[in-house]
Amino acid sequence: MSIKRSLLGVSFRVIHLMVLFFLFLGFQAYAVDPEVPDSEDAISAGQSIFNANCKTCHRLDQKLIGPALRGVTDRRELDWTKRFILNSQVLVQSGDPIAVELFEEYNNTVMPPMDFLGEGELMNLLAYIEYGDKAEPEAAAAAGDAAAGAEGGSAGGIPSEYLTIILVVLVIVLILVLVVLGLIVSVLTKYMNNSDKLDAEDKEFINQKTDYLAILKSDGFIVIVTTIVLAFVVKTAVDGLYTVGVQQGYAPSQPIAYSHELHAGQYEIPCQYCHTGVEIGKSANIPSANICMNCHMHIQNVGGQEGISPEIAKIYAAVDNDQPIEWVRVHNLPDLAYFNHSQHVAVGGVECQTCHGPIEEMEVVYQHSSLTMGWCIDCHRNTEITTRGNEYYDKLVQLHSESKDALKVKDIGGLECAKCHY
Ligand code: HEC
Ligand code: HEC
Ligand code: HEC
Ligand code: HEC
Ligand code: HEC
Ligand code: HEC
Repeated sequence: MSIKRSLLGVSFRVIHLMVLFFLFLGFQAYAVDPEVPDSEDAISAGQSIFNANCKTCHRLDQKLIGPALRGVTDRRELDWTKRFILNSQVLVQSGDPIAVELFEEYNNTVMPPMDFLGEGELMNLLAYIEYGDKAEPEAAAAAGDAAAGAEGGSAGGIPSEYLTIILVVLVIVLILVLVVLGLIVSVLTKYMNNSDKLDAEDKEFINQKTDYLAILKSDGFIVIVTTIVLAFVVKTAVDGLYTVGVQQGYAPSQPIAYSHELHAGQYEIPCQYCHTGVEIGKSANIPSANICMNCHMHIQNVGGQEGISPEIAKIYAAVDNDQPIEWVRVHNLPDLAYFNHSQHVAVGGVECQTCHGPIEEMEVVYQHSSLTMGWCIDCHRNTEITTRGNEYYDKLVQLHSESKDALKVKDIGGLECAKCHY
């Protein structure tokens, strides 16, 4: 009897515990239940916080220095995620198993504390992490559609493959016409020769052959041919002279196989992260090995290969031996010309790509523009300057508004020799 009762007691206790456990699970589920906002405002506010504080190390759908972040509120508790973002090291040092495992998985890389973020900012950040940039594939698809539409639109004209077919048919028809004409001529000649209404002189005229050799030897022919050849030679020589010192397309191979396509394109690292001078000084600067090491301290190879990549090992060697990496200069104006980056990028608002071409698609950098004086001058003649919000220009704009033309770089002295020449 007593055994029965104690058994009953134990099973009650087990049931009791199980109920508590399920209640706990239910509460957990409730707590995780995403309260993450999904409004446009929250997402775009979150995006600016992300770009300013997280983008150097994180992407939404791609592993960079830290993990890909989308879905983090599904795989972790909301509260944990927030605490991790505010100060991950506190969690790691408290021995939180998930935090410790992550920290080890990422080679003990310390994620800097973000404790300046308020609760609202954190929620916006998470909104962007979960819902941000989702529109991108759709936008790309829409762009694809638009392109397809444009192709469809050009079908209103004659598509190129039809043009070739039409050309081929025309050539065949022409050849046929020539053959038929030849046949008619020979039939007619035969007929005329057989006819006895013609005298000897007419017959000679009918049977005469064209004397090509005489034409080739004639003075007129020789003069025409020599003129054409001479004109061609002179034109090539003059063109050649104009391109002396012009290095458009120059693409030297570099000591390290550094790729802009990978860094600036695929991983969207901002140009200014490495070329620190573009907005503040004359020269754009080539980054020192230390800047590379901000990331390559942790990234030693590509796509999960074993060991250190030989190219990245060269960065380590440069840092260890305190030797600068000897990059080969691509763009090079002669000493007599003065070019200032901040003047163009920060004040003029000119995009890097306008002058340097699609750098973010280049495996190896090449010189996109000619960098001749004509190139500078052409742009200064045609480019309007952005005067908005720049008090320096207020007077000028006012004076200029009396004439009808927009204010171009040439109007502020962009064609004066001394502005570009020392
Ligand atoms: C210096 C690089 C760096 C910066 C900047 C950075 N993180 Fe991290 N983050 C990491 C690393 C590395 C990890 C992996 C865990 C570790 O090493 O501690 C990580 C992990 C995380 C995790 C955990 C992911 C998971 O799968 O559990 C979250 C969430 C996170 N970061 C959010 C952010 C947010 C939000 C910001 C910006 C406010 C940010 N991080 C800025 C490097 C960084
Ligand atoms: C991770 C660092 C990094 C980033 C980001 C980066 N660059 Fe570079 N860039 C370099 C290095 C290193 C070189 C020198 C080696 C070479 O020419 O490839 C260089 C060379 C160049 C050159 C040629 C310089 C010369 O020798 O005349 C141009 C132009 C340039 N970068 C433009 C850009 C632009 C535009 C962007 C942004 C779209 C960008 N870079 C982003 C590191 C970077
Ligand atoms: C902001 C982070 C960051 C900076 C700064 C950076 N890199 Fe990288 N680099 C990466 C990432 C990410 C990869 C690709 C890793 C992968 O695909 O797994 C990479 C890959 C490379 C590779 C390819 C290695 C191989 O074996 O193909 C080379 C070479 C390289 N970087 C050189 C440089 C140099 C030189 C600099 C400095 C001028 C530099 N990186 C600066 C993030 C960075
Ligand atoms: C108006 C045209 C123009 C724009 C815009 C421009 N550049 Fe340049 N860039 C040049 C010229 C010209 C040179 C050659 C300068 C020289 O030899 O003195 C150059 C040289 C460079 C160099 C080689 C190092 C140096 O400073 O001479 C780098 C790197 C570079 N540019 C990066 C950039 C980046 C990054 C941007 C955008 C943020 C940019 N440039 C925008 C025209 C331009
Ligand atoms: C893609 C267009 C573009 C090209 C190419 C270009 N510039 Fe400019 N440049 C500008 C703009 C825009 C400004 C006006 C910036 C401002 O608002 O003050 C400017 C201004 C200047 C100024 C200052 C003029 C003044 O009176 O304040 C100088 C000097 C200059 N550029 C030199 C050069 C040289 C040298 C080259 C060729 C190596 C060059 N630029 C190529 C667009 C260009
Ligand atoms: C917008 C900037 C700009 C202005 C304004 C400008 N130049 Fe130039 N000039 C250049 C650049 C850049 C070069 C170098 C071109 C090259 O290397 O192909 C150059 C080259 C030259 C050269 C050739 C030098 C040589 O060794 O090849 C002469 C001469 C020259 N400039 C004279 C002038 C005179 C005179 C004026 C005024 C009427 C003037 N420039 C105005 C930018 C300018």
